[in-house]
Amino acid sequence: MIKSLRAARTLSGVVNLPGDKSISHRYAMLAAISEGTSVFSGFASSRDCHSTLDCLRALGVEVSVSGDTVAIQGRGLSGLKKSRQVLDAGNSGTTIRLLSGILAGHPFETAITGDSSLSGRPMGRIIRPLQQMGAVVESRDGGLPPLKIRGGQLKSVRYTLPVASAQVKSCVLLAGLYADATTAVEETIPTRSHTEIALREFGATVRISGNWIEVDPNPHLRGQTLRVPGDLSGAAFFLAGAALVPGSELLLPGVGLNPSRRTLLDYLVRSGLDLKVLNEREDAGEPRGDLRVRYSPDLLQSRMPPIQGNDTASMIDEIPVLAVLGAHTAGLEISDAGELRVKESDRISAIAANLRAMGAEVSEKPDGLTIQGGQTLQSADIVTRNDHRIGMAFAVAALVAKGETRIIDAECADVSFPGFWETLAGVAR
Ligand code: S3P
Repeated sequence: MIKSLRAARTLSGVVNLPGDKSISHRYAMLAAISEGTSVFSGFASSRDCHSTLDCLRALGVEVSVSGDTVAIQGRGLSGLKKSRQVLDAGNSGTTIRLLSGILAGHPFETAITGDSSLSGRPMGRIIRPLQQMGAVVESRDGGLPPLKIRGGQLKSVRYTLPVASAQVKSCVLLAGLYADATTAVEETIPTRSHTEIALREFGATVRISGNWIEVDPNPHLRGQTLRVPGDLSGAAFFLAGAALVPGSELLLPGVGLNPSRRTLLDYLVRSGLDLKVLNEREDAGEPRGDLRVRYSPDLLQSRMPPIQGNDTASMIDEIPVLAVLGAHTAGLEISDAGELRVKESDRISAIAANLRAMGAEVSEKPDGLTIQGGQTLQSADIVTRNDHRIGMAFAVAALVAKGETRIIDAECADVSFPGFWETLAGVAR
């Protein structure tokens, strides 16, 4: 599908977001290995989370979906059944990496694969710790999917993450549920903490001390009834859109505001965005609130603060849209973002190519981008490389570009934000 977009006069109204993708994956997997029924409202409609549900079904889990409510009949900690088919994680790195941790604790062989993008993404980062724990894991070409995992009783590890990755951290913590003693993971750069929070919510014992996160094995996990907050990474496109389009004002209710993710909000406020968090509350250990954002002419005047170090890791999924903001404002320097090269696409190269197509001056670094900014963006054909965050980020660029921008393969937005195009059309005047 090609989506044609023109500049908007203004953005106004209420944006209802899909459920948080990261939290939905974790709730579904933990529900599957709990005892009793779990019911989740606001569950992500994203294609990625539905890949997780399909994998769980293939592993013998009863899952029913009605609108955004998902009910899962838990099979107990070691109750998954051998799948008769190869599991398909689709486009979803979170599905393959987190589920591998759980499969490593089950005494049968599972094959798991994904689409062409996922098949090119590095899995050595989870294979190495799972092998140290005693699982047998085979891969293609030394670390690519498909993976074949033969699990069983695991040995505990104390593992220092070699990359800043919540997926790797989560994989090891989930495998730790099947270990012979306490498993510990050290992260020197903090990443999203949804697994730690969800594990506790379902009844596991998790201790955090400095950089170390410990999980005790063999917990008695119990099914939960929980509400998934709105996806802050999906909100980012609308926050950026409102920042750029004159006269905009948007309200985004019920957005997840986990401290490990909300660096984005602090960063945008530091950049000059008129953004308020209203009605803050906490449910199931996950803070949430309503966001009110207004057009911010101040933000357009100055160069945005550089994105580097721990901030890069905390905002890793929002960098494509922040790069668009940087191009339309007075520029932005992004560093320490080498991980972007192994996301759903090589996002450094995809951002640079599409910004250049729109007339921006950009240079690529191995681990980031230098964006000059200060130029009026021109319309272009946006090559999304089937990467949802590239498609949606450049939809925001289109809102302030001269002429008609065409987003190629625009259906990729469904990976994290089904209904994105309708939601955007609903607020763009
Ligand atoms: C995610 C972690 C991040 C993020 C991804 C979702 C998660 O990936 O980019 O979209 O749910 O744990 P990495 O763990 O590879 O950094």
